Amino acid sequence: MFFRSINRWLIITLACFLPLIAISIDIATDNLGADPIQALHIRLGDWSLRFLWLTLAITPLQTLSKWRGMTAYRQMLGLIAFFYATLHVLVYLSVDHGLDWHLIAIDIFESPYIWLGVLAYIIIFSLAITSPKFAKKSLGKNWKKVHRLIYLAAIAVIIHYYWQLKGNMAEPLFYLILLALLLGFRIAVWVKNRQFNKMMIPSTRKIRVTTVPKSLDIKQSGVPSKSSLNELIIEEVDES
Ligand code: HEM
Repeated sequence: MFFRSINRWLIITLACFLPLIAISIDIATDNLGADPIQALHIRLGDWSLRFLWLTLAITPLQTLSKWRGMTAYRQMLGLIAFFYATLHVLVYLSVDHGLDWHLIAIDIFESPYIWLGVLAYIIIFSLAITSPKFAKKSLGKNWKKVHRLIYLAAIAVIIHYYWQLKGNMAEPLFYLILLALLLGFRIAVWVKNRQFNKMMIPSTRKIRVTTVPKSLDIKQSGVPSKSSLNELIIEEVDES
């Protein structure tokens, strides 16, 4: 069992690095096409987006399949998305602009689609540094709220993708539809849970729950019987 789960981790980790291996081979064999820098941008950006979408798919898949073990993979896939996004940004800063900060500032100022890339990267970066267990512990209840920003990052990425595109719209449209489905699923589950909670305890009414022993039974028999266990009293609190 232990070795089987180690093997699964190993296979998934290796699979995540396959795109990087393929890109490295293409760099080494000078096989990136007519515009190698643009090809690098596109391939690293595309893979970051794909891993981000896979990360987003984990919770809906978990809800549908009821397989709890998927949570650990969500963190891993999120970190892989961050890894490819970092390479994408590094290529932009170093290979494309030779770390010329003046040139970078002008390009960012003149290309609004990059603003959304920057916004997405800041969010993904924040999620990556708050993903370890100790960060989860120190953020407490706020951790979930912070990590919901992944949806904002995904929306920023899809706009970043669309905005700079000149040609074929089929691929971004596919990712946009997937994102709408994943977001729609989460919203549907959230609405359903809210309705269920409202049905159980209407938020406008407050209740008081107290436990009291069933003293009547004790009086009758002298010794506490099974039925003389504590009784729950649920009463509505009138706040007027
Ligand atoms: C500081 C942040 C970022 C910068 C400066 C940046 C820069 C760029 C540039 C210059 C391009 C155009 C490539 C070209 O066609 O010449 C591009 C495209 C793209 N970027 Fe980013 N990006 C950033 C963040 C991100 C992030 C965080 C993601 C994904 C998680 C991402 C995903 C993409 C995708 C999918 C494309 C389109 C690739 C295609 O045409 O297939 N970018 N980015």
